[in-house]
Amino acid sequence: MVHIKEGYKQLIELANEARRRAYAPYSNYAVGAALRTRTGRVFTGINIENAAYPTTICAERVAVFKAVSEGERDFEVLAVVTDNGGSPCGSCRQVLAEFGLETVVLIADGNNKLLKVTSVGDLLPEAFQPQHLKKNG
Ligand code: THU
Repeated sequence: MVHIKEGYKQLIELANEARRRAYAPYSNYAVGAALRTRTGRVFTGINIENAAYPTTICAERVAVFKAVSEGERDFEVLAVVTDNGGSPCGSCRQVLAEFGLETVVLIADGNNKLLKVTSVGDLLPEAFQPQHLKKNG
């Protein structure tokens, strides 16, 4: 039997619940995310598409931006739910990397089934990070 960590199941359920509010009339690919910070707060996100396609934003980035705009930057774990277990896109990986490579990433499907436990660092090897912009970085 696979034991999943404290709160992971709940976080996946929150992401999947949020997914119902996805605004994805063009792709019909609904994505939900739930990001838990080290203070225990949870920020959900959904993908929000636009008739001008490139202005669409992913669920993961909505969750990150909500957290950061509320003063939360220490992320512990992010759950991402799609119908078929899709993985965060490259842009979302980069945005997550800004705030740490240790953040755990849970990939789940529409039945709340946990398919993968990984981390931002594993999803984005050799990430370009804030320290690279420092003088002696
Ligand atoms: N999408 C996300 O929300 N997160 C990802 O990491 C992958 C893609 C959204 C964007 C778009 O609304 C739809 O999924 C299809 O690309």
